[in-house]
Amino acid sequence: MALQLGDVAPDFEADTTEGRIRFHEWIGDGWAVLFSHPKDFTPVCTTELGEVAKRKGEFDKRGVKVIGLSVDPVSDHEKWAGDIQETQGAALNYPLIGDPDRKIAGLYGMIHPNADDTLTVRSVFVIGPDKKIKLTITYPASTGRNFDEILRAIDSLQLTGRHQVATPVNWKHGEDVIIVPSLSDDEARKKFPDGWKALKPYLRLVKDPSA
Ligand code: BEZ
Repeated sequence: MALQLGDVAPDFEADTTEGRIRFHEWIGDGWAVLFSHPKDFTPVCTTELGEVAKRKGEFDKRGVKVIGLSVDPVSDHEKWAGDIQETQGAALNYPLIGDPDRKIAGLYGMIHPNADDTLTVRSVFVIGPDKKIKLTITYPASTGRNFDEILRAIDSLQLTGRHQVATPVNWKHGEDVIIVPSLSDDEARKKFPDGWKALKPYLRLVKDPSA
């Protein structure tokens, strides 16, 4: 069965551009993003990997480690790294996993045979400090991902993990959030003593507690 939210992210050992790792040990006590790209030396993937390198500081700030994967060997990743630096203006500053035997791609269901039976799709797994999968996104090979959205979703995951709130449509850090419906008004008064705006009894907006 496909991996689902709340499942423990499968552990594995693998060669990467930064040496051999055991995944859970590599994650440590923080968050992680594991993202697959279909193939080395391809145009969309080149732009995505450069973008993640440019934005690594934004992941670091959130306590999130990033790691890429494709079914190519690490020796190809190392050759391709020069092209990423040359064309995207950013050198790889996070590891890429080599998965030529597709073991990890199989574990994570990154190959969707009805789309392509040899290459991975563009999977994203956001993994929490408890090693559980908090969010998955799947894009086809032809569509590059939006890393603004991935960072935005991480902000929501980290906020909603700490406070009894949910984030509304298109929410961004600093905007009002929603008090979870499971919290009664009496309980909410203790958590949010400055009050909230109730548009409906079940739709209660409160200031972002992390802002
Ligand atoms: C790309 O990254 O450009 C790409 C990779 C595989 C199939 C199609 C596009």
